Amino acid sequence: MLGNILGLILIALVAVLFVWLAVRAWRSRRRAARWAGAALAGLLALALALLAGVTARGLAVLYLPRRFPVPAVQAPSTAAALARGEHLALVACAPCHSPNGALPLAGGSFSLGDEIGLPLGTLVPPNLTPGGELSDWSDGEVVRAIRQGTHRSGRVLVMPAHRLQHMSDEDVLAVVAYLRSQALVAHSTPAARPSLLLAFFLGAGLLNLDVEPITAPVAAPARAATTDYGAYIVSFLNCRDCHGENLDGRPSGPLPPGPDLRVVQGWTQEDFIATLRLGVDPSGHELQPPMRWKQYGQLDDLELAAVYASLRTLPPSPER
Ligand code: HEC
Ligand code: HEC
Repeated sequence: MLGNILGLILIALVAVLFVWLAVRAWRSRRRAARWAGAALAGLLALALALLAGVTARGLAVLYLPRRFPVPAVQAPSTAAALARGEHLALVACAPCHSPNGALPLAGGSFSLGDEIGLPLGTLVPPNLTPGGELSDWSDGEVVRAIRQGTHRSGRVLVMPAHRLQHMSDEDVLAVVAYLRSQALVAHSTPAARPSLLLAFFLGAGLLNLDVEPITAPVAAPARAATTDYGAYIVSFLNCRDCHGENLDGRPSGPLPPGPDLRVVQGWTQEDFIATLRLGVDPSGHELQPPMRWKQYGQLDDLELAAVYASLRTLPPSPER
């Protein structure tokens, strides 16, 4: 935090330096030096001031405490809830919170951003087994972390809560039930240290950690191979972060773009399921990281059929 704030102050100071240089150039007696110098220094000062403003905005997102209440909930302990939670944890959490993409959620092995070559800071997904911090948190605090991206301390979590928050009340509680049931794994991950670049992305709106407050019960559509249920699954997974808000292969942020998912409209349901299970698409192309087909391929047949149905109905992309 201190390093980032010093970084921001440095950018602001350099901006002030260029203002001073612009003023000095303006006072120069030589006309050419006056105009060229003042314009150049002025532009640089403006660019740096903008950069400082955007970065400050991002640092505010990262360091100002969030004010989401802790929901008064308790995770169930039925066998059905545990099984559902385990399944969801594998598909929705293991891509990050596991060293090998499998359960238990013993903590990630690298920082967000490493895989895609962006220096976003030290952001290693923590150990979510009872060997990690969560053993001291209430169920409500864990639900708030997942759906409102808020650490127990109130600070923002750099995690895709804006997607996970679409999980139904029942599903999110099933996940918490599963987290509690995991065997203890002793593994500690370094504390989060977001970089100034991440602050810049957040300030510029290129990455987003904003979440809606949850004030009403959230229910899932009936579990069936329907467009609605497929849209529900896609809503809480990260597909849109890479494939774009409209899944048309035009993401707005710095993440590596995934292709237009309307490609699926030319595939059969079997083609789609085989692609996510085997990591090879109907044209014979092997899917490369960061497409985590190994985790998404763990969706069951009904869920994949539902996702397929929802991708089949994607409208033509709106013109920009
Ligand atoms: C894209 C990667 C990603 C996914 C997917 C993800 N997380 Fe996270 N999660 C993180 C990172 C990174 C942090 C640490 C962020 C920080 O400290 O700012 C984190 C932090 C947390 C925390 C706070 C833990 C602590 O000790 O501070 C909880 C709880 C959590 N995640 C639960 C979940 C659950 C449950 C899921 C699945 C439903 C999930 N996460 C999915 C990346 C992810
Ligand atoms: C971290 C970014 C990322 C996320 C999250 C992600 N994808 Fe992808 N996806 C990609 C990339 C990149 C490719 C292209 C991989 C390649 O061609 O080697 C891809 C390829 C695909 C393909 C194959 C397209 C083709 O023409 O071969 C499908 C289908 C797909 N993704 C579906 C999904 C679904 C459904 C989700 C959510 C459950 C999802 N992806 C989440 C990045 C991502």
